[in-house]
Amino acid sequence: MSSTALANARNIVGLINDGAFRGLRQLPPDTFNVAVTSPPYYWARDYGLIDQLGHEDTVEEYITSLARIFDEVKRVLHPEGVFYLNIGDTYYSGNGQPHGIDPRSPSRNFMRSKYRPVDQPGWGIPKKSLIGIPWKLAFELQNRGWTLRSDIIWNRHNAFAEPTARDRPHRQYEHVFLFSKSRFYSYDRTALEDDEDVWSIPIGRERRIEHNAPFPVELAERCILTGSPPGGYVLDPFVGSGTTLIAALRTERNAVGIDLSSAYCGEVAELLRKKHHCNPVDWQELENRLSTEPSGWASWKGNKANYRKPGTKREAESQPHNGQGVAPTHTVEP
Ligand SMILES: C[S@@+](CC[C@H](N)C(=O)[O-])C[C@H]1O[C@@H](n2cnc3c(N)ncnc32)[C@H](O)[C@@H]1O
Repeated sequence: MSSTALANARNIVGLINDGAFRGLRQLPPDTFNVAVTSPPYYWARDYGLIDQLGHEDTVEEYITSLARIFDEVKRVLHPEGVFYLNIGDTYYSGNGQPHGIDPRSPSRNFMRSKYRPVDQPGWGIPKKSLIGIPWKLAFELQNRGWTLRSDIIWNRHNAFAEPTARDRPHRQYEHVFLFSKSRFYSYDRTALEDDEDVWSIPIGRERRIEHNAPFPVELAERCILTGSPPGGYVLDPFVGSGTTLIAALRTERNAVGIDLSSAYCGEVAELLRKKHHCNPVDWQELENRLSTEPSGWASWKGNKANYRKPGTKREAESQPHNGQGVAPTHTVEP
């Protein structure tokens, strides 16, 4: 497996072609301000990769695999960092046969021929039930020490109709859970602009590379702007077509992306070179950058050291970057 670093005039991005768990093990602790990711959903697509996530025999195995990876995300996240997790659900068909086609998405057509666990009878729940995977995963992360701060509804108002769903509403929204590593953390609410926990962001239809499940750059940008300072550190352990990296460069942050697919990693590196003014640099340069305090950290209004309670002065001085210092305690509403 390989690692590539590329830089433009201001920022550095790293691409690790490896499984998410192994890739994260290569990164330093207590570093990234914000993680933004969308893992493969349960039996929704076939990326054609050995060790790909999403094709576990049971929902429990799928959730445990993801939670183990997100434990590592927690390790590398800055103590005041946040984690945005976009996750979709799957239906239990229990049909006893392969099911469903999606003519627009070749990576979903494996469902016609492959007998998925969700097509097999005997789950003990009624056939045609939505499984509830997003909340099962959110509860597992909560049990492992993540603070669940928000269940953001991503309103994909231009979502395609679902060809096989004739007796229920088509799915238009997905969850984006916001977790924090600590109870008191840094976050810039002003970057939400007028939206609170419903974000109406259209699905992007442009294809940067041949990838079937990208989230929109605008979604990643909002997560990055609320969760990191200018010059800060962004992470995506399932980077796919590189959306999070592109959003990081557009907002002048540094970033690391991981993906199991060597084809996607190669195409993303090419895209960054050709369209985003990036040139290859030594991986050591990225490591050096990650070991310094982000350039905009001290003055960033999201830095909790800069929070003001109404009618009070600045509460505390900035915390050190790899923030082992004691967090100033202050009262905020849950
Ligand atoms: C839903 S896509 C991510 C899309 C991404 N947000 C974007 O905008 O392009 C999930 C990605 O996870 C990758 N993947 C699957 N199993 C993996 C694993 N075990 N470790 C790392 N990446 C994996 C797939 O190659 C795919 O690119």
